[in-house]
Amino acid sequence: MTSVLFDGIKLLYTGDPEREEIEDAALVAEDGLVTWVGPAERAPDADERVDAGGRAVIPGFVDSHAHLVFAGDRTHEFQARMSGVPYTGGGIRTTVAATRAASDAELATRAAALVGEMRAQGTTTVEIKSGYGLTVEDERRSLEIATGLTDETTYLGAHVVPSGIAADDYVGLVTGEMLRACAPYAKWVDAFCERGAFDGDQTRAVLEAGIKAGLQARVHANQLGEGPGVRIACELGAASADHCTHLTAADVDALAACAPKDAPGTVATLLPGAEFSTRSPYPDARRLLDAGAVVALATDCNPGSSYTSSMAFCVALAVREMGMTPLEAIRAATRGGARALRRTDVGWLLPGARADLVVLDAPSYVHLAYRPGVPLVHQVFLGGLLL
Ligand code: NIG
Ligand code: FE
Repeated sequence: MTSVLFDGIKLLYTGDPEREEIEDAALVAEDGLVTWVGPAERAPDADERVDAGGRAVIPGFVDSHAHLVFAGDRTHEFQARMSGVPYTGGGIRTTVAATRAASDAELATRAAALVGEMRAQGTTTVEIKSGYGLTVEDERRSLEIATGLTDETTYLGAHVVPSGIAADDYVGLVTGEMLRACAPYAKWVDAFCERGAFDGDQTRAVLEAGIKAGLQARVHANQLGEGPGVRIACELGAASADHCTHLTAADVDALAACAPKDAPGTVATLLPGAEFSTRSPYPDARRLLDAGAVVALATDCNPGSSYTSSMAFCVALAVREMGMTPLEAIRAATRGGARALRRTDVGWLLPGARADLVVLDAPSYVHLAYRPGVPLVHQVFLGGLLL
């Protein structure tokens, strides 16, 4: 067991509500875990030392919403959107066709490359969904590939109804044979509750079947228009309602009332990369935070609506476009994501947490928004080990 002292930290964002920021700080990691955090002058001795050189340190980003198992490319769809064609989610079927045609090795290599891209940008925990297979075997293998990359795997058979099958028959498959094949590889069940995808009853059926099979729920809710997604997420005790772009006052109240406080609840996960890439209005984070909701930020990394793997980019968008302060945004991108995945071992740096941390090439996390688009990740440590 080797202990490592990180010192020379100009500003440590711990994510611990008791002492969220510490100036001129140090941190000790041992055996993959944080064992001590505090002012540098009181730091204990350790076997090794990493000098942050006056930089800021943050917990690794927790990206709680990503679709990384796919093949193909939708550059043309993006180009068309930037000429005014609206996003409807219909392009999902383009990616489904490419994904079905790809080999396991190709899908695994591409997903691993995206995870590598994320890690290099400071993301140390990532959730990965299926949803571009939409047959029993293609969903199963997508999840099997995802389990090789993360513990946070999500069964999204209910992404859209694929061509060639009636909606009710497809929901029967998703809640039956497909669920049985996928559940051993998944922690979560998700559904795209939206006009053009799955309505309230169908979403409820999919989530309830998943919960019965031992999975926990999360929901794609209220992305393209108002709808029942957020309220279903709260009613079923989902860990997260994701997107939350088009909310009624009742939705905001529901997210405030079911926010995780002392007990597990439902986080509002905002995905500004999707609004950026679909040229849509951003979700109103200020309204949610002022109402008392718990907010997370995630990339939604996927080839259609948000082909970014950068949490820093999402932090910058949240600050500039969604009414969040830099502190609220870094909180949402770390601890917020962890809460959306019901994890207490990541997303903050306090004794007992994993030593997943990022040394920024900046004196403060504020620079993530203040210097948008600049690669500010100096070093990433996973379980105390340099990547
Ligand atoms: O979260 N909204 C549904 N699913 C993805 C988009 C998938 C796609 O366009 O390929 C999302 O934005
Ligand atoms: Fe998504």
